[in-house]
Parts: sequence; structure tokens; C-alpha cells
Amino acid sequence: MKTCYIKTLGCQMNVHDSERIAGILENEGYRMVENRDDADLVVINTCSVREKADQKFFSELGRLRKAKEARPDMKIAVAGCIAKQQGSAILSRFPYVDMVFGPQNLAQLPDILKISSRKTVVRVEDDPEYHLSTVPARRAGGVRAWVNIMYGCDNFCSYCIVPYTRGREKSRPPQEVIAEIRGLAAEGYSEVVLLGQNVNSYGKGLADKTDFPQLLHLAHEIDSIKRIRFATSHPKDMSPGLMEAFRDLPKLCKHIHLPVQAGSNRVLERMNRRYTADDYIEKTMRLREMVPDIAITTDMIVGFPGEEREDFEATVALVRTVEYDGIFGFKYSKRPHTRASGFEDQVSEEEKSDRLNNLLTLQDEICGRKNRALVGTAQEVLVEGRGDDGAGRWTGRTSTNRIVNFDSDADNAGRLIPVIITEGFQHSLTGRAA
Ligand code: SAH
Ligand code: SF4
Ligand code: F3S
Repeated sequence: MKTCYIKTLGCQMNVHDSERIAGILENEGYRMVENRDDADLVVINTCSVREKADQKFFSELGRLRKAKEARPDMKIAVAGCIAKQQGSAILSRFPYVDMVFGPQNLAQLPDILKISSRKTVVRVEDDPEYHLSTVPARRAGGVRAWVNIMYGCDNFCSYCIVPYTRGREKSRPPQEVIAEIRGLAAEGYSEVVLLGQNVNSYGKGLADKTDFPQLLHLAHEIDSIKRIRFATSHPKDMSPGLMEAFRDLPKLCKHIHLPVQAGSNRVLERMNRRYTADDYIEKTMRLREMVPDIAITTDMIVGFPGEEREDFEATVALVRTVEYDGIFGFKYSKRPHTRASGFEDQVSEEEKSDRLNNLLTLQDEICGRKNRALVGTAQEVLVEGRGDDGAGRWTGRTSTNRIVNFDSDADNAGRLIPVIITEGFQHSLTGRAA
């Protein structure tokens, strides 16, 4: 039996693509191995969102080149967002690569593998007819499964490479999504995470006009699914219907990841985000009025070209106003093709690091304060299994996506149970089963 190793470098969508790649390879008779040096085929599923992600790919390739020198019959495949963006240029730069295929070309993998025994193969063309239902998946198991509801992105934020690597936005028909979730429920998954670059615009171009809140209602009817999450939402498209879904659907987790990116209107405009800080704050306030306990998290970019000290202060002010439950902060990174890569007024690395540190320190304070306020409360936790904190405790998440490590005499993996919170830290909670 042939062996295969997959290295995944990107976001949740990229991770899920790897599950599809693994599904296809298993159908083709491959067995997964833990060590790249033992594999007949190594797939690197790449990300290109920031320069750091590119660098991870280069160092992975460097390691593989050495492995291939020792075992020349090893095959190397480059998949994902760098594959799509650079195509055959990868083969000219790295001649020891055997296959290059993009996120929309996964279904062609059996064919690609066949050809690769004779010559190198590049498949990165757009495939608007690409249907995931025809592609098997080998999921990681556990309580949570990812489900793609749409591909691509049409937003063209001026810093972002994703519209160039993932192509145009396209929604999967609701029947297809719901059938997949039913299958996952039958396999024993308790939680589904619906994935798209901008789930709020789900349904654009579909024949039956199902929108995202309607899709949530359909998913909610599936009995043994206990929790539904989704990522990611664009603030400009956050509709009253979505707020009502949070209010009305008990299985919809009380957490929204709503990336704001910056707090200065001047910067937001140059980012092409199409909302102002006030629009954003107003939406979060309305949402919290309807769903008081909802957790709101965000992505933030510091040091976007032309970001002055006072623009950054506006970001800090927004963070103080919204009081996020978590922030993923990034230093701006110049990406090929994007409009912002042509902007001249770049911010120095030192200034970017300084701003990022300030932002994350502020957020740690907020998270610590919010988590400590939960001490003494009972939180409903979906139990994932034994944690890896070395203390042998159980672990799971609250509806608001907080990690809880707790003591319990019983194995409740896959169940929702109440846990009394005993301590609150910056990035997790501790407790005991009630
Ligand atoms: N579709 C999602 C985000 C996809 S990329 C959304 O719109 O919310 C994930 C995050 O990476 C973005 O939210 C942004 O904060 C960050 N990001 C994207 N391009 C970047 C760049 N050029 N430099 C720094 N961060 C970037
Ligand atoms: Fe990138 Fe903007 Fe699309 Fe998100 S919405 S993937 S940040 S272009
Ligand atoms: Fe995801 Fe990275 Fe591609 S963030 S969409 S794998 S560029």
C-alpha cells in the first residue's frame, strides 16, 4: 500500500480541503503516515495570506528536497492558495515538485496522480462547476466537523490575496449542504462549523434564493446536531435576519467572529471594507441588545499603509468600546496582486510590532476581566475529551467558544454538560462538572 503525508499550512478552509485530499487519497489506496520521510507522496496544502505563510511553505519545501534526495521516488504535490496563485512558476523554481493543484481542482486529484507517474502536472484553472459532494472527505473525528457552504470571495479588500487564490464567490445549494450535515449527524458529530469567506452573503446566485439565516434554520432542524457555528462574517452584510437567528435558534452558538480590521474610518475606506467604525459599533450594540451574552471576536490588522498614530488610537478606542471576547491581531503584510501593495506610505516593522503589542496587551486585560467574571457561574460545555494540559482534565468549549478545562468523574465526550467555573484566565477557564 502506498503511503501519504499531508502538511496543512492555512485557515480552517484549507484544513478542510486537506480532509478532502485525504479522503480522495484513501479512495485511491493510500495510507496516511505520521512522518513525511516515510511517505511515498507528500502534499503541502499552502496558504498565502501573509508573507509568513509563504515562508512556512519555503521551509517545508526545503526539508522535502532533502528527503527526496535520499528517496528519489518520493512524489511532492503543492496544493492550496500558493499553488493557485503561482501555478507552473512553482515547477520552474522548484523542479523537484511533481504536482501543483489549486483549491478548485481537488476533484481532479485521481487523474493528476495517474499523470504524475509519467510527468509533472499543473491544474490550477478555475472550475465554476466544482462540486464538493462528489469529493469524499476523511475528517479528523471528535465532536466537530467543518462544512463548506460557499467558496471564494468577491469583496476585494485592498490588502487581501484571498479573492485571487480562491476565485469568485459561489454558494453550494442548500440541499447539498443539508444532506452533508445529515450525514455528519449520522456519523455521530455533535457540532458543525459552516465555512465560507463571507457566510453572510450566502445564497447569491442560487436558483432558490435561500439566504444564510434560512440555511441556519434548515440546519437547526437536524436532530442530533447539538451545536452550529460558522465563520466568517463580513460586517457590511450582517443582516437583522442573522441577529434574529442568534436570538431564536438555541443550537446556534452564541459567538460571532466579525472581523473589523481597523477602527479608523480613513483606514477602513482605504481597505475597501465598506463600513465605518460607527456602523460596526452600532451593529454590535444591536446584536448585544438582542442576544446579551453573545461573544464577539475579531481580526485586526495593524500598520496598514498610511496608518498614522491617531488611526491606531481609533482602533484602540474601538476595542475599548466593543470589548471583544478575543482578537486575532496581524501586522500588515504586502501581498502580490492586491491594491494596497501599490500604496506608498508603508509603516515600519518596528511601529507595527509596537502597535500589535499594545493591542494584544489591551485585549488580554479585557479577556482576563471577562473570564474572571464567569467564576461561580454554570456554563454549558460540549465535551471534546481529555485535554492536553498535563493534568488529565477534560476539555470542551462553551457556546461562546471559551475553552474550559475541568474535572469530572464521568466520560461525557460528545455531550453537553453544565460545568461550574472555578477560575478564569486570559485564554481559558477552569471548572468542575456540576
Ligand atoms: N474572509 C475572512 C478573512 C480571511 S483572511 C474575512 O473577511 O473576515 C483572515 C484574516 O487575515 C483577515 O481577516 C485579516 O485580518 C488577515 N489578513 C488578510 N490579508 C492580510 C494582509 N495582507 N496582512 C495582514 N493580515 C491580513
Ligand atoms: Fe479577504 Fe476581504 Fe474576502 Fe475576507 S472579505 S477573504 S478579508 S477580500
Ligand atoms: Fe485560507 Fe490562507 Fe488561502 S487564509 S483561503 S489558506 S490564503
